[in-house]
Amino acid sequence: MRILSGIQPSGSMHIGNYVGAVRQWVAAQNVDAFYCIVDLHALTLQIEPARLRQQTLDYLATLVAAGLDPDVCTVFVQSQVPYHAQMNWLLECVASYGELSRMTQFKEKASRQEGYRVSLLTYPVLMAGDILLYSATEVPVGDDQRQHLELTREIAERFNNRYGEVFTVPVGVQPTASARVMDLQEPTRKMSKSLASPLGLIYVHDEPRDIERKVMRAVTDTDNEVRWDEEKKPGLSNLLELYASFSAETPDAVASRYDRYGDLKKDLAELVISSMEPIQRRYREIRPDEGALRVLAARGAEKAAAVAGPLYRRAAEAMGL
Ligand code: AMP
Ligand code: TRP
Repeated sequence: MRILSGIQPSGSMHIGNYVGAVRQWVAAQNVDAFYCIVDLHALTLQIEPARLRQQTLDYLATLVAAGLDPDVCTVFVQSQVPYHAQMNWLLECVASYGELSRMTQFKEKASRQEGYRVSLLTYPVLMAGDILLYSATEVPVGDDQRQHLELTREIAERFNNRYGEVFTVPVGVQPTASARVMDLQEPTRKMSKSLASPLGLIYVHDEPRDIERKVMRAVTDTDNEVRWDEEKKPGLSNLLELYASFSAETPDAVASRYDRYGDLKKDLAELVISSMEPIQRRYREIRPDEGALRVLAARGAEKAAAVAGPLYRRAAEAMGL
């Protein structure tokens, strides 16, 4: 089994990222796991260069603080392994314009801005390359990436049919609880860095008092009945799922212990605060030493390139280069 997953260093990491992705990464890490900070993907939307550079280090330190051990798995920065950009081109010659323009995330992001970048359209191809370069068999991602993963499988199969068996066709793995953490203020929309609403997102690095404030002010309904019902009670159901994902219970089991929204919120806030505290503490230790972080990234890139290089050459050769 070979695992690969990625996270964009845009904005600050939120608990949707943590619960939906990073926590699985930590649990599944081994010598055959590759985790990538996808800075090339972050360029699909406007981002200030100095900020991107800083956030890439923030993410690296956060991943290590959350429990990824660079001596066990491979943690690296996408742009430091040039095969990702190169593979992107090869796969752009396999993917079709039609299938890319049908991607939900593209349609959503493109509809929110004028003159969006071409890379916003081709972004799933870059992602497919990230995965296929490592012959990944499993890709842990949140619910929002399912469609991109399906496309990756199609691209891999098409390539293999056309040029011979080069790629392993991966499967996506989703967390059992909270594959999709919703915005606390607009619980029918996923918690998202690209749509940051001030009270809707809890960040991994939020101060305890901010976590508490956001949870206490989370939008619910007025019927005052604590039960899980995603359709009729999206806000409360989101809180129950979040709780359940930190306490390793089912949302129904959590609901059965509470009569009042306020009590549930209070305990949830405490649970999130105490779950983030050790990550925040380690982060404060690691983040100041940028030299050490850069060494760590360089080591990761070297390990990643040793796997991606041979695969890239096989793909390029199969295509006639
Ligand atoms: P991104 O921040 O878009 O790079 O996402 C990094 C990882 O976090 C991906 O695996 C996403 O599927 C996952 N993720 C992002 N937002 C959420 C969310 N609101 N709930 C659950 N998982 C998420
Ligand atoms: N597109 C993913 C996201 O926005 C990030 C990503 C890039 C990724 N490459 C990947 C995830 C490869 C899994 C595997 O969340």
